[in-house]
Amino acid sequence: MELFEKLEHTVTFIHTKTDLKPRLGIVLGTGLGDLEDAIEAELSIPYSDIPHFPEVTVESHKGELIFGHLYGTSVVAMAGRFHFYEGHSMEHLTFPVRVMKQLGVEVLILSNAAGGTSPNYKAGDIVFVRDHINLHYDNPLRGPNDERLGPRFPDMLRTYNRQWNARALEIARTNGFSAHEGVYFGWPGPSLETPAEYEFIHRVGGDLVGMSTIPEVLVARHMDLPVFVVSVITNQCYPLEAIRETTVAEVISVAQSASPKVSRILSEMISTGVFWKN
Ligand code: HPA
Repeated sequence: MELFEKLEHTVTFIHTKTDLKPRLGIVLGTGLGDLEDAIEAELSIPYSDIPHFPEVTVESHKGELIFGHLYGTSVVAMAGRFHFYEGHSMEHLTFPVRVMKQLGVEVLILSNAAGGTSPNYKAGDIVFVRDHINLHYDNPLRGPNDERLGPRFPDMLRTYNRQWNARALEIARTNGFSAHEGVYFGWPGPSLETPAEYEFIHRVGGDLVGMSTIPEVLVARHMDLPVFVVSVITNQCYPLEAIRETTVAEVISVAQSASPKVSRILSEMISTGVFWKN
């Protein structure tokens, strides 16, 4: 079955379960459970029940598509995401983002945990992504292009909305949160970076590094779906003297502690309609 037909099949399946029309799509990253709790859920569908969805393999991520309302706006949220390092193809792991677009979402909010390669970032800081550098050795748009979904060569100039980031920074400051705008460096993983690799990422202009998000952003861009990306710095990776051994438990725990800050910022952005103004 072609990608387009698979999408139609999945969307038809979802429409048999709910008639909610989500305006916002959300991908919940590692440890961002607070935001999930804030969703007034009407329906949760396990990924394993949804046709053509990949299988979840990471313990720190569960696997449900949640439909409901968040701060007054209709949403569809992915509790648990898919990563390249799990072994999924790029096309398969980004399939849920295409489904969200076909369900009618107008904006996609992506969250993630990341290592900080800017010397200004500390564990627990929030970063709004203003650009990215992609070091994944595959691209979800590789292969035949279906013009019904998007163009062969999507332009990437206006991928990230600096006005949304400016508003997010303002909200963070008002609330006394340490927050920045930065360049996300996509690392395929699953091994973390060596000190020399962190140094490399810093030198080429990466402020933070993570193993997710970029494939999803590329597919969203392909389908002309605007994105807003918020990251939690879970470990400091620069300067090199600041690097400590990183465990997944630590990453989850720091992300969880920062999770209320992310919820607070998004709550204000969503309830004041920031995403609908331009
Ligand atoms: N590197 C890559 N991904 C990550 C890191 C890191 O240091 N921390 C959290 N996700």
